[in-house]
Parts: sequence; structure tokens; C-alpha cells
Amino acid sequence: MKHLTNKRILLGVTGGIAAYKSAELVRRLQDQGASVRVVMTQAATEFITPLTMQALSGYPVHLNILDTETESVMGHIELARWADLILIAPASADFIARYNGGLGNDLLTTVCLAAECQIAIAPAMNQAMWSNNQTQANIRAIETSNVLLFGPESGLQACGEIGQGRLLDVDSLVQKVSQFFPSTILAGKKVLITAGPTREAIDPVRYISNHSSGKQGYAIAEAAVEAGAEVILISGPTNLTPPERIQTIDIISADDMLAAVLAELDGCDVFIGVAAVADFKPVAVAEQKIKKNSDQTVQSMRIELKENPDIIASVAKTQPRPFTVGFAAETENLTQYAKTKLKKKNLDMIIANNVADKAIGFNSENNATTIIWPTGEKVLPQMSKRNIASKIIQTIAEKLAAKTSPSDTNR
Ligand SMILES: Cc1cc2nc3c(=O)[nH]c(=O)nc-3n(C[C@H](O)[C@H](O)[C@H](O)COP(=O)(O)O)c2cc1C
Repeated sequence: MKHLTNKRILLGVTGGIAAYKSAELVRRLQDQGASVRVVMTQAATEFITPLTMQALSGYPVHLNILDTETESVMGHIELARWADLILIAPASADFIARYNGGLGNDLLTTVCLAAECQIAIAPAMNQAMWSNNQTQANIRAIETSNVLLFGPESGLQACGEIGQGRLLDVDSLVQKVSQFFPSTILAGKKVLITAGPTREAIDPVRYISNHSSGKQGYAIAEAAVEAGAEVILISGPTNLTPPERIQTIDIISADDMLAAVLAELDGCDVFIGVAAVADFKPVAVAEQKIKKNSDQTVQSMRIELKENPDIIASVAKTQPRPFTVGFAAETENLTQYAKTKLKKKNLDMIIANNVADKAIGFNSENNATTIIWPTGEKVLPQMSKRNIASKIIQTIAEKLAAKTSPSDTNR
């Protein structure tokens, strides 16, 4: 697994003689698995062509703030949101001054203003420009504003002078970017996740289902991808947008879900069954819409149900089997039911979820759970589903490592 797999880097290129090195930088970041999009200042295009950067990055290069066409495709706010890290390399003295002044007078500075992710700046300029008092004051100011400063280094400069101000070499820049993303706890692992409800047809227009929104399962899929895993999400019908960087397979019924899970299980290291799979389905599905009975004295009808396949138990029975994690959504005796399920289904871990409380559980933004494994448990108090997800992924990674490492006796 490459160190920057699934990471999204927005590379800002400004108008300096070192701009040609940004072409190599794109390639080297991609070699580490990153997706790279490029924003260039007007001056940068005088040093290296947007066509070169487009051909290397595989994406259109973003140049202008006041361009209706590009704004409608991927505007400055979307670009800022897309990035996990914004790296400006090379960063000119002028850009640094504009950034420090809080200006948004071109696309790159505006994207930086709109960004909530980390920004890293790799300055490159003549040694006198670098030592200039104004430049140094700007550098000191941005350093205290949580911006990462990569370089510059000292050496022979393009102008023939020797001194501080050279762009850090491409290897070191890639290394610094990699150090910023330390979370590779699931690097090289394939993780299969189910999410959302299933629908069990009664007739062509009606079905039995439940209130699962899919939010917790989707959040876990995103946390797994952020931890470096290759993630496949098998999702029942939800209103959620399929997450980027995740292969999502849409299914309707429990039978569909089981078939999709078994088809994807090969080579899978972790299986997390978050979906609220319907326990029962109608014995027979009516071919036509069931009509109201014309005899008004009959006011009830019966739908005979049979058990659905148990997806998580089927996964736990396979050999070799992945590290298998289940969810127990209960309305009473939460941990007791969850522990029984863990044992009965031979799972590696179970997440006990109280769905009786409206503030957490189904459809809400928050959750509170207990992670239970055969030799211990961890209580996660109420927090966002995203935070719950990253803590679950962290615990899974720890237990998975302990299971695969023979020297570890933590199980
Ligand atoms: C040949 C040439 C080389 C330049 N090299 C640099 C440089 O290495 N670093 C720098 O900060 N400015 C350099 N400049 C000046 C910038 O191009 C200029 O300040 C420009 O306004 C930067 O715009 P930008 O920050 O929007 O890209 C150079 C200018 C020229 C003409």
C-alpha cells in the first residue's frame, strides 16, 4: 500500500523559476497514491504551461476565479473542500505576502481562504528576497497561523547566487506531505462494509423495511478509507450520496445483500456489518399489487413471513474468514444481548447500539455505542457518527493487528 493512497492534494503553483519542479512533484505524489489537482496563478503559467500540469495530473488545471464555466464545474469552494491538504510549491514571495494579508484576489488565494484543511507552503525565491524584512515578517506571521512551512533550503540558485531560498527538493517535499498523513492503520487492508436498511417486497409497490438511514455505515466507510483501506460499501436504499473513493454497490433486499457480500468477500481483511438487515421477509411476493378487499367486513389481512439469511453469521462461517464485526441495534438489555450475539455468531467484535433513544441511533447525527470484543469492551459516549466511526476503525485496526501478530497476547 502506498503512503498517500486515497489522499487528495491540491497543488498550488505560483510564478517562480522553480515552477518547472512542480511537474515532477505531481508525478511523485501520484506515485505515492495521491490524487493531485493543480491550481496555477497567472504568473505561474508564464513559467510552465497548464497543459503540462493537466496532462500529468489527469485533471483540468484551475486558473481563474472569475470564470463562470469552471466555477460551475468545480468552483473555488468545492476545490477547497475537495482537498485533504493544500500544498503551495513553489510559493512566491508575492503569494506569501498576499496570503498573509488575507487577500482573495485570485483563485489560489481565494481557495486558501475557503479551505478548512491544512495548508503547507514551500517558498522558493532569490536569497535576497527571502531575507528581506517584509518576507521574513510574512513568514513569521503565517507560521503562527497553523500553516506548515516546507523549506526553503540553502544552495546554488537559478540566478547564480548562493543562499537560502531554494525550493526544497521534490523527494523531501513528498516526504513532508507523507508525514502529514500518519494514519495508515488500515493501509493494505480490504474492508467490506454493509450499510442502510434492506427492503423486503410484499408486492410490486410495497415492502417491509426499517428506519436505518445508513449514516453510521457510511461514516465508518469514510473513516476506513481515511485510515488507508480499500473499501467496498454494500448499501441498502438510503438518501445519502455515495462517498468518493469508495466502491459502492447498491442492493435492495437481504438476499441481494448476501449475494453481493459473498461475491466481494475474497481477499477481504475486515467485514463490518452495519446494515439493518430485515430479519424477516414475506414467504411469497404477490406478482400484482394487492387490492383492498371489496368485502368491507374484512378489515385485516395476514402476511406470512420467513427468516432472512443471516449475513454476518454467513461471513463468520467462511474460511479463511475476515475479522468480522457486527452491530447489535437493541432497544433494551443492550450489552447483554450484544455479548450473547458476539458469542453465538462467533464474531471478533460487536458494536452495541441503543436505538430506543431518539437523540442517537437510527437517523440521528449522533450516536453512543459500546465496542465489545471477546476479552474487553470500550464505551463511546454520545458524539457525532463521524467521530464514533473513527474510534471504531481505530479499535478494529488495533485488534486486527493483535490478531495477526502472534507475539501479542491481547486476545
Ligand atoms: C524570470 C523570473 C523569475 C522569477 N522567480 C521568482 C522566484 O523564484 N520567486 C519569487 O518569489 N518570485 C519570482 N519572480 C517574481 C514573480 O513572478 C512575481 O512576483 C509574480 O507577481 C508572482 O505572482 P504569483 O505569486 O501570483 O505567482 C520571478 C520573476 C521573473 C520575471
